[in-house]
Parts: sequence; C-alpha cells; structure tokens
Amino acid sequence: MTYTLLRLVHVGTVYVTLALFVLRGLWMVLDSPRLKQRWVRIVPHVNDTLLLTAAIGMLVVAGLNPLDQPWLIAKIVGLLAYIVLGSVALKRGRTKPIRVMAFIAALGVFAYIVAVAVTKQVLPGLG
Ligand code: HEM
Repeated sequence: MTYTLLRLVHVGTVYVTLALFVLRGLWMVLDSPRLKQRWVRIVPHVNDTLLLTAAIGMLVVAGLNPLDQPWLIAKIVGLLAYIVLGSVALKRGRTKPIRVMAFIAALGVFAYIVAVAVTKQVLPGLG
C-alpha cells in the first residue's frame, strides 16, 4: 500500500519533471526571458526532490540496497548524467549550440532512465 503510493508519486513526478524540462528547453531555444521567472527556478526543484524522496522511500519500504541492484545503479548514474547535462542545457552552456546539444543529450539520458525503470535491465532490451 505505502509502496504503491510512493510508486504513484514517483511516476507522477517523472511526468512533471519531463514536462517542465521540455518547457524550459523550449524557452532556452527561444531565448525567452520566461526561463528566469521565479516559479521556474523553484517548482522543478520541489518536484525533483519529491521524485527522489519517493524513490528513496520505495527502497526503504522494499528493503532494497540500490548497490545490490545493477538497474538501480544504472538509474542513479543516469540521474547524475541527466542533472549535469540539464544544467549545461539550461544554465551553464556557454553557446546556444552547446546548450541545444546538452538538451538533446539530456532527453536521451532521460529516455534511457525510463527504459531501465520499465525493464529493470541496465541495457534495456539487450538482457
Ligand atoms: C529522472 C530520474 C528517474 C526517472 C525518469 C525514473 C522513472 C521511473 C519510472 C517510469 C518508473 C516506473 C517503471 C514501471 O513502469 O514499472 C520507475 C520506478 C521506480 N524507480 Fe525510478 N526514475 C528515476 C529515478 C530513480 C532513482 C534515482 C531511483 C533510486 C535509486 C529510482 C527507483 C525506482 C524504483 C524502486 C521504482 C519501482 C520499481 C517497481 O516497483 O516496479 N528511480 N522509475
């Protein structure tokens, strides 16, 4: 029951994370000042914190050590890569081409994390 609820929060916040990231990526491409709105700096962080808290909650409830599960290690590594690429895309990238490439790469990493989550395989589809 608790696990189901945490999983619901986790997957729900995954959708919100993706939607907010795509929106901010579009604003970045368009050089829109909306990227600097106050709520845009706050809401994604609150949502990401919820996403991670729910993930950690599931591990605790299920008594899972993420280091024992290769697919969970892959998710953590993927998450770190996504955070770095996302920050280059939306903030740190010095030129537009760098930011756009980082944005596309971040979306690719995000798709990989979801594929790992669904298949519970480090190399989804390859066993
Ligand atoms: C951006 C980062 C993440 C994304 C996009 C993501 C995505 C997902 C998705 C889509 C599912 C549902 C999979 C299904 O259909 O069965 C899921 C489940 C899960 N995720 Fe994540 N996740 C992320 C980060 C993490 C992290 C960092 C952890 C913990 C180390 C984690 C732990 C879990 C667990 C334990 C489940 C439940 C598996 C199950 O009961 O079937 N996730 N995740």
